[in-house]
Amino acid sequence: MGAEQPAAAQPAVTRQPFGSAAGTPVEVYTLTNRHGVEVRAITYGAIITSIRVPDRKGVIADVALGFDSIEGYLTPHPYFGALVGRYANRIGNARFALDGRTYLLAANNGPNHLHGGVRGFDKYVWAAEPIAGASGIAFTRTSRDGEEGYPGRLEVRVSYVLTDASELVIEYQATTDRATPVNLTQHTYFNLAGHAAGTILDHELTIDADRFTPVGESLIPTGVLATVEGTPMDFRRATKVGARIDADTEQIRFGRGYDHNWVLNGGGTSPRLAARLVEPASGRTLEVSTTEPGLQFYTGNFLDGTVKGKGGAAYARRSGLCLETQHFPDSPNQPAFPTTILKPGGTYRSKTVWRFGVS
Ligand code: BGC
Repeated sequence: MGAEQPAAAQPAVTRQPFGSAAGTPVEVYTLTNRHGVEVRAITYGAIITSIRVPDRKGVIADVALGFDSIEGYLTPHPYFGALVGRYANRIGNARFALDGRTYLLAANNGPNHLHGGVRGFDKYVWAAEPIAGASGIAFTRTSRDGEEGYPGRLEVRVSYVLTDASELVIEYQATTDRATPVNLTQHTYFNLAGHAAGTILDHELTIDADRFTPVGESLIPTGVLATVEGTPMDFRRATKVGARIDADTEQIRFGRGYDHNWVLNGGGTSPRLAARLVEPASGRTLEVSTTEPGLQFYTGNFLDGTVKGKGGAAYARRSGLCLETQHFPDSPNQPAFPTTILKPGGTYRSKTVWRFGVS
């Protein structure tokens, strides 16, 4: 007879070494729930390195693109699993004006600034601690005044909590001592058939958005909120990602596929359903709910098989897709867009829930 079993499994979080970044030790946290779902995240970049979820037969697969070891994350890669900030997405011409001053940022994407610059939040080791009473982890870091050209010392907290309803609850919080733009997101590339299973073109997607923000050639919004009606951007009914991805329209050409921000319907302070993704063969589903006004849907158009991921997988074009909850791109230069400016005394709060299931 063995030791007495606890009445119910306790929420589980474990911590292990994951190499080091420029001499700083990196750790991996593993979150699990009672349905066999397992999420791993590392202290480098608060990067989500794997998400293991069952299919309709109970077969578990890792549905997040990424690397097996820290070395992969230290070499240039397109933000696999990354926590992106201080400003996720693009800022046009890598500059913005605020309170009568012009701030110059790194032009790390053609003429534009992308995902926080040369060394964004995804390239720092964060402090981390398990969240008591949950299968969760809280990451914190201080972004100094002037980091990557942004004003203000920003105190950031991001938490990942895995629930027994197979939700990963992502909460972002930040405060500043000077006015600054803030726009944080999670850049996981999903492939619900498995991270090495090929393209995402057969996934079926629904986005609850009547409008999107059309872009110019360098992917900066024109400022117009355009209807999705009659365009390849209409995902109000479940549609295969690949059905119109090479349509002969200017927007699809500019994005080389989907690489656009949708204006989510509804609003409010609690997360509402923004998107639903279904992989018909495995039956795996993902529902994304958020408090954010926008969703960047990116189909991995710039992947080209040169990045060797987990288990040596060559991540080919469109082998993963991102559903990045966010404020609209280039908001600091677009007065008509919802503001992204955080002021001293205020608190930036954002919440996104990924709910995994089967159909
Ligand atoms: C952007 C893409 C970019 C990718 C990787 C996405 O959020 O919209 O244009 O290539 O991130 O950097």
